[in-house]
Amino acid sequence: MVSMKNIQNVRTDYVKGVLNLQDLQDSPGQQLSSWLQDAIKAEALDANAFCLSTINSKGFPRGRNVLVKGVEEEAILFYTNKRSSKSADLSFNPKAGATFFWPELERQVCIYGNVTELSDQENDSYFASRPRESQLGAWVSKQSQPLSSREELDATLKAVREKYKDLDVIDRPNHWGGFRIAFVSVEFWQGRASRLHDRIVYRKSKSGQWEKWLLQP
Ligand SMILES: Cc1cc2nc3c(=O)[nH]c(=O)nc-3n(C[C@H](O)[C@H](O)[C@H](O)COP(=O)(O)O)c2cc1C
Repeated sequence: MVSMKNIQNVRTDYVKGVLNLQDLQDSPGQQLSSWLQDAIKAEALDANAFCLSTINSKGFPRGRNVLVKGVEEEAILFYTNKRSSKSADLSFNPKAGATFFWPELERQVCIYGNVTELSDQENDSYFASRPRESQLGAWVSKQSQPLSSREELDATLKAVREKYKDLDVIDRPNHWGGFRIAFVSVEFWQGRASRLHDRIVYRKSKSGQWEKWLLQP
């Protein structure tokens, strides 16, 4: 084992909240939105970040953080480079996990669902709302491809800045856009004392209604 002091003693006793079935909203999207607002209020760092898990063509799962940019009653939206590793995974297997963790609130949300691409209209409208530097960045990065040096990236940024210097509007690259994760299962987790946490999961019944029930910690 690699020697590391105290790792076995790192643990938190969770005491900040309680989760009751009757307090939760009818739809998982409404409940997620309410917890995101709590996280923003609590000034959680990157309150809208979640770990996106995908599976590649060799069957390996991999997670990385992205930012949620839209919450619907039954789905969440995020944006990325369509030529990235995660996008390749999603075209091979359009299913994903999404895990939020807000340590400040001792809360976690674990989602899995089916993934589809957003429309050109949705992509254009969000791209237009991004800061100019982020828009330029979308043209600069061949996300997930090998990079020979930082200087190569800086040189590409300089060339892209030059290209767009007289233009007010930066067009969206075709390889940049978003995905929608339509919920199949959404679990809300509130840390409790002695590892006896509160867990409530939402699943859709055959009649199309969201049902929710408690899970063992
Ligand atoms: C807090 C945080 C938020 C991030 N948000 C995004 C995002 O919204 N979209 C994105 O493409 N990458 C985002 N990234 C970078 C990704 O984690 C990842 O490095 C990148 O998308 C390449 O992933 P891939 O090679 O697995 O496709 C974020 C990273 C962090 C730490």
